[in-house]
Amino acid sequence: MKKIFVIGIGPGEESYMTPAAKEAILASDVVIGYKTYIDLIPHLVENKKVIDSGMKKEIERCNLALDLAEEGSTVSLVSSGDPGIYGMAGAMLEVKGQRDSTVIIEVIPGVTAVSAAAAVLGAPLMHDFTVISLSDLLTDWEVIKKRLHLAAEGDFVIALYNPKSKGRVTQIEEARDILLKYRKKETPVGIVRNAKREGEAHMITTLDEMLQHPIDMLTVVIIGNSNTFIQGNKIITPRGYAL
Ligand SMILES: C[S@@+](CC[C@H](N)C(=O)[O-])C[C@H]1O[C@@H](n2cnc3c(N)ncnc32)[C@H](O)[C@@H]1O
Repeated sequence: MKKIFVIGIGPGEESYMTPAAKEAILASDVVIGYKTYIDLIPHLVENKKVIDSGMKKEIERCNLALDLAEEGSTVSLVSSGDPGIYGMAGAMLEVKGQRDSTVIIEVIPGVTAVSAAAAVLGAPLMHDFTVISLSDLLTDWEVIKKRLHLAAEGDFVIALYNPKSKGRVTQIEEARDILLKYRKKETPVGIVRNAKREGEAHMITTLDEMLQHPIDMLTVVIIGNSNTFIQGNKIITPRGYAL
């Protein structure tokens, strides 16, 4: 069967990978993904053709997966977290559509970074929340800023993906300044690096002080809503239950 699995392998620690993701990898002839992730699961890729996608751009990777599937291979295209959340699922389906291909694409969900980070912090996502990527590679910064304003005005808990990179340092500062227009400076903020994988570290701080702590591309930042509070070493956003 001509088939591509677009797989989310979760945050990195194997115990957070779903059995469905493992089964799909085991059922594949070819596995395409970053070496860093594939190195975590050597026992699942034994006897398979492994293509390290490190040097390949996203669309090239999707075209390659489709070429291999058209030739008869079952292919796994591996993303971290969930492939449908800033991952490869959308591009893969778009490329299939553009090529009018009959290859079957199956998306296998995974534990996304914000769930993993929230679990580390306690329960910050118990009420309505929004996820915003601060990467302006594919989205205009003006659009991102508008979303920050509207999410803050709507009192959503806000999780920031791609918060800061070596070449992109001012966006997180601007984002924090926008949020301070709507939220108290004491608003709880959780910063989680490498959630649920080797090197996990986290910090609980406030909106006012969050920029004093290390933030990079391996980090998710979660900013509470107006009801979020810190209890001991956990962040809680109340759902509204009467205790
Ligand atoms: C392009 S997005 C990929 C998201 C991924 N598809 C997911 O569902 O988790 C990359 C961003 O996800 C976040 N991220 C991914 N894994 C993480 C982890 N284990 N701990 C903290 N942040 C993570 C970081 O903000 C990083 O810059």
